[in-house]
Amino acid sequence: MREINASIPFDKALWRQDIRASKAHARMLGKTGIISEKDCAAILEGLDKIEAEFATNGVPEDWDLEDIHMTTESRLAELIGPAAGRLHTARSRNDQVATDFKLWVDGALWSAQAALSALQQALVTRAGEHADSVMPGFTHLQTAQPVTLGHHLMAYYEMFERDISRICSASVHLSACPLGSAALAGTGFPIDRDMTAEELGFSNGPTRNSLDAVSDRDFALDYLFFASQCALHLSRLAEELILWASQPFGFVKMPDTLSTGSSIMPQKKNPDAAELVRGHAGRIIGCTTALMVTMKGLPLAYSKDMQDDKPPVFEAAGLLELCIAAMTGMIADCHFNTERMRQAAELGYATATDLADWLVREADIPFREAHHITGAAVKLAERKGIALDELALDELRAIDSRIDERVYAALSVESSVAARASYGGTAPEQVRMQVAAARKALGMED
Ligand code: ARG
Repeated sequence: MREINASIPFDKALWRQDIRASKAHARMLGKTGIISEKDCAAILEGLDKIEAEFATNGVPEDWDLEDIHMTTESRLAELIGPAAGRLHTARSRNDQVATDFKLWVDGALWSAQAALSALQQALVTRAGEHADSVMPGFTHLQTAQPVTLGHHLMAYYEMFERDISRICSASVHLSACPLGSAALAGTGFPIDRDMTAEELGFSNGPTRNSLDAVSDRDFALDYLFFASQCALHLSRLAEELILWASQPFGFVKMPDTLSTGSSIMPQKKNPDAAELVRGHAGRIIGCTTALMVTMKGLPLAYSKDMQDDKPPVFEAAGLLELCIAAMTGMIADCHFNTERMRQAAELGYATATDLADWLVREADIPFREAHHITGAAVKLAERKGIALDELALDELRAIDSRIDERVYAALSVESSVAARASYGGTAPEQVRMQVAAARKALGMED
């Protein structure tokens, strides 16, 4: 029983929140006269001492005390005697743990936000450097149209921007304070729940339903949903870097500090950090699944199953923090081989759409017909093993006589990207505009 019951091995991570919430509760009990001023002062002094002890020596792990709440209370009794027993008036571990955990999750959300803005800053910096660098854009991982590297990097800026907005909404959802809900039904003591909610920084005041308050773990799931989505984004970026670092691509050289060598093949440099970011996404998603399954069949109100809410959240938060930091380093310090990217953009007839668009624009040919004419030109170039703009004018005119020499200007990869200047498009001028807006939003000075 001791072993299956104990949560102290992991919930000791909540010690700061537990002491903070206990202080708020004690002050409220003192202010409302539920406990004496003297007992209140003794409790607060004792909690200060415990805080200092835990900060220097760590939290002791006694399984008989089950969890962080009992650990703190029992130490308080050792320090101040019987008055310690008054702290638990008008509360239960059920509202206590919900309060502590909400405070912890809110902290984790905002530290993820700070880490993600650092990653966004790295992306925006590199995107600004590469607003003009041309690379192949893919659909189905087949060369589709040339794009700019800056545009590609800014796509990830947008994904992380959405993750940050999920942080903001998750933080709003956890902004009501469960403390004072007691075991499940509220309490008969004349407590002041607004006072504790305010002291603990819950902007939405006290929770409105005590049954919901002690059995709600939506806030933990919201954190995990955010973390999973963010991990997916990180994993997609990691996958691209891994692919680009592979020799047949050769688009990127990963920083040595975030790669490893092989123990047997001296020439190898492996993108381990990126691979682990990709791998950790699986574990973070696993944490989310674990808590959803834990919660799905629970009747109201608290059940002990809910003690299992913490390990997946702590694990996901630790992994996510590592992944964001590793990715920030990779983006900031990798070397993009722009020459190689440009060469790759010229392979695979990436400017075929530009030929079709030119026929529509300059010769007033309906797009479907232009598409057909372009297909014939690509086929011819393929047969000859040359690029589209290496076809002679005669050869192009033999396919369609409405083509003239001005077409060549449209067929270079540079003019292809420059032409895609619609809002949100890949043209360097569009990328520069988006980079400037992002820099402003991130508070990066110019
Ligand atoms: N260790 C418990 C948890 O983490 C604290 C709440 C215990 N409540 C109870 N009624 N046994 O969930």
